[in-house]
Amino acid sequence: MAENVSARSVGASRRAVVGGVVGLGVGVPLLAACGSGSGDGGSGGTSTTASGPIGKADEVPVGGGKIFAADKVVVTQPTEGAYKAFSAVCTHQGCVVAEIKGQDIDCTCHGSKFSITDGSVVQGPATKPLEALKVTVKGGEISVA
Ligand code: FES
Repeated sequence: MAENVSARSVGASRRAVVGGVVGLGVGVPLLAACGSGSGDGGSGGTSTTASGPIGKADEVPVGGGKIFAADKVVVTQPTEGAYKAFSAVCTHQGCVVAEIKGQDIDCTCHGSKFSITDGSVVQGPATKPLEALKVTVKGGEISVA
């Protein structure tokens, strides 16, 4: 019986030693913010800067799209008359996507590609889709929210 008490106390002190080791540093990765500092007003963040009409609907080709870099918006038209809009800020490290090739929205910073249809990742390193925006077309003008 006395042995049980002593065994418990040894166990408790072992736990205390193990507990003291837990919590040693997990490094905090430093991410290079390649998308900041472009000098476009400094509002920062990943949201768009658009607040009114950003362009004309006929600038957006069917089966493709157009990047409105100043507003950080991509507008696509996967099928005729069906417009989609996404944030142009890449979900990898924040670059503004650079070009649209075929059915892909390309970020040339590290090679991510996103679908013009739904903004989903076609090719990494990005793992999250482009943020979808609400798009309206009135009188040939495109607005996003
Ligand atoms: S920021 Fe790295 S792929 Fe776009």
